Amino acid sequence: MAEYYLGLMSGTSMDGIDAVLVDLQNARPELVCAQTFAWPDAIRQQLSQIVDQPEVVSLHSLGQLDALTGETFAYAAQSLAREAGIAAEDILAIGSHGQTLFHAPNSTPAFSHQCGDPNRIAEITGITTVADFRRRDIAAGGQGAPLVPAFHQAVFSSPDQDRAVLNIGGMANLTVLPGKAAPVLGFDTGPGNVLMDAWHRRHRHDPYDKGGAWAAQGECLSALLETLLEHPFLQQVPPKSTGREVFCANWLDEQLGRLRLTSPAKAEDIQRSLLEFTARTIADAVRRHAAGTRQLLVCGGGAHNTLLMQRIAEFLGDIEIASTEDFGLHPDWVEAVAFAWLAKATLQGQPGNLPSVTGASHPVVLGAVYFA
Ligand SMILES: Nc1ncnc2c1ncn2[C@@H]1O[C@H](COP(=O)(O)OP(=O)(O)OP(=O)(O)O)[C@@H](O)[C@H]1O
Ligand SMILES: [Mg+2]
Repeated sequence: MAEYYLGLMSGTSMDGIDAVLVDLQNARPELVCAQTFAWPDAIRQQLSQIVDQPEVVSLHSLGQLDALTGETFAYAAQSLAREAGIAAEDILAIGSHGQTLFHAPNSTPAFSHQCGDPNRIAEITGITTVADFRRRDIAAGGQGAPLVPAFHQAVFSSPDQDRAVLNIGGMANLTVLPGKAAPVLGFDTGPGNVLMDAWHRRHRHDPYDKGGAWAAQGECLSALLETLLEHPFLQQVPPKSTGREVFCANWLDEQLGRLRLTSPAKAEDIQRSLLEFTARTIADAVRRHAAGTRQLLVCGGGAHNTLLMQRIAEFLGDIEIASTEDFGLHPDWVEAVAFAWLAKATLQGQPGNLPSVTGASHPVVLGAVYFA
């Protein structure tokens, strides 16, 4: 008997809502249907504004945004189920990550805030909804992130080989899966696409640099690269996680200001430097924390950036780089499938966090359940 779950994810890139319908009856998830739904322009603008200037948001607009994003998630789920031809009553649950507005794992007290009211998702779809995955891990002393490593372990690990999974979303995160009985490691390496997207949007008025084609026209500015590499997050030892509160356009502007370039830099040279920075920080993290890894499985939108992938491969030399697609799951849908899988774990009363990854004091059942 099929066990249908639906996963909803909108990451830090805010490029859209990834919705997946999966059959989780076997250990290997079977993707039934998947689609990315664009945020309505007005909502996307409000989301970007809040993330870029969190200090100016009013409680009234935050409350309304939570409701509106919840409705949008619900319509995405409904539309996907319709497309798949699967009735709501045949879907056991929705796992909804929500949209992160602020992730502050190191503040005192720590917190992580996602919007996308799950009450509305359950009410509109008539499907039991699991949401608010991060805060229980934080309450247990963890970073609340990354939460995908347990899923990566279940689906991509091999008993005979050390592997690592790299997700290049807005931020980039690495899961180290030792072949032997050693604990799984997982952490954010730093920015994924976020800086390249911000620079591209500013200069080319388009959300991202397809294939890294624009970056390919520029040359890396070594002074800028060295300045960016000084960020203290990069030297921190895991557990660690980050977000747009740290790596964003404002931070980039500050670093450009620090440089005091004698002549104005060409925009494409800066784009190339940001690509090099992203590739370097990822490769450094693999070398430092996944030394035994011979195979790196890549997912997330950054997997489509040909030049970025080429530079990561050049930095990593003899490590084989593959797409998660070669291991049964298309790179665009891994994160959303992970939240469908985490919803199932929650409903079964199974912990979804890995304390070796998040730093939590113990395994916890993640999220809250909103019954249909
Ligand atoms: N063809 C492409 N060429 C270059 N970059 C691409 C391409 N397709 C997607 N991307 C990049 O991938 C990004 C979206 O990736 P993804 O959806 O994995 O990130 P996300 O939503 O931030 O997820 P998360 O933060 O949860 O991992 C886009 O913003 C863009 O930068
Ligand atoms: Mg996305």
